[in-house]
Amino acid sequence: MELDSSTTSNGYLLLLKGLSLIPISHYAFAFITLIIFLLISIIYNSLEIHFFQDLFSGFSGSPVQFSYNSSSQIYHAVVSNCRILQGNYSVTPWLSSPHLQTIFLNFFGNPPTVKYKRQLFTTSDGGTLALDWVTSSDVSDDESTPIVVLIPGLTSDSSSPYLKHLAYHTAKRGWKVVVSNHRGFGGVPITSDCFYNSGWTEDTRTVVNYLHKENPRAPLFIVGTSIGANILVKYLGEDGENTPVAGAVAVCSPWDLLIGDRYINRAPMQKLYNKALAGGQRDYAKLHQPQFSRLANWEGIEKSLSVREFDEHATCMVGKYETVDTYYRRCSSSTYVQSVSVPLLCISALDDPVCTTEAIPWDECKANKNIVLATVKHGGHLAFFEGITASSLWWVRATNEFLSVLHSSHYMHEQKKISTPNTLLDSSIDQGPYVNVTEDGMVAALNNEPTTDNQKKYR
Ligand SMILES: *[C@@H]1O[C@H](CO)[C@@H](O)[C@H](O)[C@H]1NC(C)=O
Ligand SMILES: *[C@@H]1O[C@H](CO)[C@@H](O)[C@H](O)[C@H]1NC(C)=O
Ligand SMILES: *[C@@H]1O[C@H](CO)[C@@H](O)[C@H](O)[C@H]1NC(C)=O
Repeated sequence: MELDSSTTSNGYLLLLKGLSLIPISHYAFAFITLIIFLLISIIYNSLEIHFFQDLFSGFSGSPVQFSYNSSSQIYHAVVSNCRILQGNYSVTPWLSSPHLQTIFLNFFGNPPTVKYKRQLFTTSDGGTLALDWVTSSDVSDDESTPIVVLIPGLTSDSSSPYLKHLAYHTAKRGWKVVVSNHRGFGGVPITSDCFYNSGWTEDTRTVVNYLHKENPRAPLFIVGTSIGANILVKYLGEDGENTPVAGAVAVCSPWDLLIGDRYINRAPMQKLYNKALAGGQRDYAKLHQPQFSRLANWEGIEKSLSVREFDEHATCMVGKYETVDTYYRRCSSSTYVQSVSVPLLCISALDDPVCTTEAIPWDECKANKNIVLATVKHGGHLAFFEGITASSLWWVRATNEFLSVLHSSHYMHEQKKISTPNTLLDSSIDQGPYVNVTEDGMVAALNNEPTTDNQKKYR
C-alpha cells in the first residue's frame, strides 16, 4: 500500500477502504430504508395525516368553534344545551386524515341497514322525484311526530352511506325521515326538461310545502348535505319567513361555488376529487343519455374530466346559464345567508378536502341571529368518523341532538299566516306551481303547492 505524505488524505483513503469492505447488500438495505422513509413522510404530509398529533394529545380530540351573533337565542338557548356540540370531536385513530376519512366514507362507510318505502312525486312541470321514507318500527305514527327531510349531495341518493347513517339514527329517535332524492336519482327517469342543479331550490320548496299541507301539525326539519346544504340555505334565504320549516342543519356546504371551483382545480389532491366528482356526474348523465343528448352537448359530457367541464357541457346548457361562472355565482348560497329566517345550524370541517373553508361566509353567519356556524378542526367531507370501529359519524349525532333540543325549545320557526287572501303569492298557490324562465336564462320558480292529483303513491 502506497502511503501519501499528507495524513489527511491518508485518513480519507483508509475510510474509503473501510467503506469498500462493507458488503453491497448493506448499502442497498440502507438505501431502500431511506426511500421508504421518504415515501412515508411524503404520504403522511400529502394525506394530511395527524395521527402523531392525536397520539400526543391522548386522542382527546378538538373542541367545536362557534360563530354566531352575540344576541343569538339559537346559540344561547339551544346550541349551548347540546352536549355533543359543546364537547370534543375525536377522530377514529386509523382514519386520522381528512382524505382517509372521505375516501373511507365513499368506498365503505360502515352504513347501518336502512329500509325505505318509496313515494313517487310528480312536480307541476312533469318532473319525477323519489321520496324515500324510512320504514322502521321505531318511527312513531303520531300526527305531531316531527318529519326530517334529507337533501343529498351532488351525485348521492338515499343509498349513499352517509345518508343511511343519518336516516337510521334520526328514525331511531322515533321521528319520520324522508330522503328527497334529486331528479334523475334513486333510479327514477328524468321526465321533464327541468333538471336539478346546485341552486335548484324549487323541488325542495315543493316537497316542503306538500309535506306541510299533508302533515300540518308535524314540525318539519330539513338537513342538507354538501350540495344539498347549498340548496337548503339558498332555499331558506329565498323564502325568508315564508316557509313552514321549523329548523334546519346544513352539513359541509360548499357555500360559494366559484371559490369551490377554483379550489378543486388547484392542488393535486383536490384535482383527484374533482375527477372523481366529474366521474359521478358522467355516470348520472349516462343513465339519462337521451335527455342529455337532446338538451346538452353529449360529446363534451363524455369527455368531461372536471366538474367545471361537466357544468359547461351539461348543467349550463340545460339550465340556460351563459357561462359556468355565471351559474356558480347565481347558485351560491353564501349570498342568501342574510335572509335565512329559521334556526339553522351549519357544520363544517376545517380540513374538508372538497368544500374549502375559504368559502365559509363567517361574517354573514355572525350577522344573522338565526344561524350558528359550528366548525371543527378535523372531519373531512361529510365523514367525522368516530370510535375505534368507525361505526358512527359525529355530525349525525350532533345534528340529531340539535334538532331534539330545538324541538323541545320555544325557538322553532313558525310560518307566518298569510292574512290578505288576494296577494299574488296566494293566487299562485291556488293555481298550482309553474316555472317561469326569464330572459336572462335564470329559472324563476314560482309557487309551490302541487295539486293533489300530481301525487301518486307506489308500493
Ligand atoms: C378537548 O380538546 C382540547 C384541545 O385539544 C383539550 O385541551 C381538552 O382537554 C379536550 N377536552 C376533553 C374533555 O377531552
Ligand atoms: C348581530 O345582530 C344585530 C342585529 O340583530 C346586528 O346589528 C349586529 O351587527 C350583529 N353582529 C354582528 C357581529 O354582525
Ligand atoms: C315571467 O317572466 C316574464 C319575463 O320573461 C315576465 O314578464 C312575467 O311577468 C313573469 N311571470 C310571472 C308570473 O312572474
